[in-house]
Amino acid sequence: MRYLTFALTKGRLAKQTLELLEKTGITCEEMKDPDTRRLIFVNEELKLKFFLAKGPDVPTYVEYGAADIGVVGKDTIDEEGRKLYEVLDLGFGKCRMCVCGPAEAGELLKHQEQIRVATKYPHIASEYFHDKKHQTVEIIKLNGSIELAPLVGLAEVIVDIVETGSTLRENGLEVLEEICPLSARVVVNRVSMQMESQRITKILNDLKEVLQER
Ligand code: PRP
Repeated sequence: MRYLTFALTKGRLAKQTLELLEKTGITCEEMKDPDTRRLIFVNEELKLKFFLAKGPDVPTYVEYGAADIGVVGKDTIDEEGRKLYEVLDLGFGKCRMCVCGPAEAGELLKHQEQIRVATKYPHIASEYFHDKKHQTVEIIKLNGSIELAPLVGLAEVIVDIVETGSTLRENGLEVLEEICPLSARVVVNRVSMQMESQRITKILNDLKEVLQER
């Protein structure tokens, strides 16, 4: 039996994924050592491997088959646009992708004005403004602290993740339009889905069962 490899998104998502997997009987003791510098963890008995990666890299590992299964946010899946199967909503990491800005900017969205949009998600923003709303906007890619952009005059609005809404509130910004709901998803390599169908389906069914019991 060959190893099945999981690519998990470093941080909170990986922690929640491991807790969920543990409930299905899939454990990885090696990963629990907080001081470890190892990058790959193995469960010999179940012939499973796990590694942690930056969110945007997870779909890349899965598309190329370096990982059979990945767990990553829906925002990252949509932004990266990789060829893979999105098979299961894990229901955690819930948040929303939104257009946000100062209340006055709401008018600019209604009247098809040529505005600047700052975001960490240029593909999602382009698809929303250009393809869905048919509004010509200039998209400016940033790498974090996106809420700064309208405050310092870089852009009129932003496209960003809103979870609790406190970052917006504390900076005098608000949700102007909602693009889509987000949460953690399981993705599977297209070839692995055929070649390892039985093992992968079993893992997915066990996860679904645990999710239903929650
Ligand atoms: C995310 C997102 C918002 C914030 C939303 O940023 O980009 O800034 O969280 O959360 P809230 O609605 O609960 O306030 P993150 O903390 O990931 O850092 P970043 O700004 O570097 O992207």
